[in-house]
Amino acid sequence: MPSRQLSPLELNHLRKHGFSDLDPDSLGKKPVEYFTGHAEFLGLDFLVTPDTLIPRLESEYLVQQAVQIIADQKISHPVIADIGTGSGCLGLSLAFNLAQRQIPYTIFLSDISPQALKVAEQNAAKLLTSTANLFFETSDLLKSFPSIKFDLLLANLPYIPTKNLSRLDPSVRDYEPRLALAGGTDGTFYINRLLKDLPPFLFRGGVAIFEIDDTHSLTSFTLPSSLSAQIDKDVHGVPRYLTVRLKTSSLLD
Ligand SMILES: C[S@@+](CC[C@H](N)C(=O)[O-])C[C@H]1O[C@@H](n2cnc3c(N)ncnc32)[C@H](O)[C@@H]1O
Repeated sequence: MPSRQLSPLELNHLRKHGFSDLDPDSLGKKPVEYFTGHAEFLGLDFLVTPDTLIPRLESEYLVQQAVQIIADQKISHPVIADIGTGSGCLGLSLAFNLAQRQIPYTIFLSDISPQALKVAEQNAAKLLTSTANLFFETSDLLKSFPSIKFDLLLANLPYIPTKNLSRLDPSVRDYEPRLALAGGTDGTFYINRLLKDLPPFLFRGGVAIFEIDDTHSLTSFTLPSSLSAQIDKDVHGVPRYLTVRLKTSSLLD
């Protein structure tokens, strides 16, 4: 009797990638996605390596919201940033969606990890017919960015509070990159740093959406006065998304 019991989803994933006969115990606790080198996000097949987080279902909301905002605000050529892009799942699935609907876009994808960014570039070449309007930046948050304004910024930055890192499931703790998980003492270190620098990077009415830890509330974040903010819950009913907007009264642009 194998000690690793694979879920129907994991079995399906292995079958799809040609590993139907795999002995589950040979995997140990390794996520099947790191074994096959593939992960699905919004119906698209992304390459993943130990340098990239495995895209999560709850992160799809960031892209769905971005699509909605572009439609609601009738943004004809959105300029978008995906900060901490990892595999590129957020920015590239948004690019895929916009390309399908023939909406022109400019998307900046950045990560502090050059290894992760390389995977994002490979995914761009694999998923999109043209990568001409995509810009890949190795950057500590917005530090190396040119002076530019965005309509939309998506960021799934590391947000696990330090004390919770050791409590993560071994399949996450021992396999996913610590650089993608560890968010400082209360998990807000990177998000607060980005919030501080954000206002000059947003067009008036521009929106940034962050994925956050379920222990976070509005008081966890230090908001520049030019930004308004709200927190939304995920399908499990826990706080998961922080949306901030550059107030229309802001004098920044
Ligand atoms: C939680 S992962 C998210 C990856 C991907 N966006 C996703 O949703 O699956 C966080 C990403 O942020 C990157 N990161 C960590 N610190 C960073 C920093 N200071 N500046 C930019 N990216 C950073 C990590 O390398 C990692 O790829």
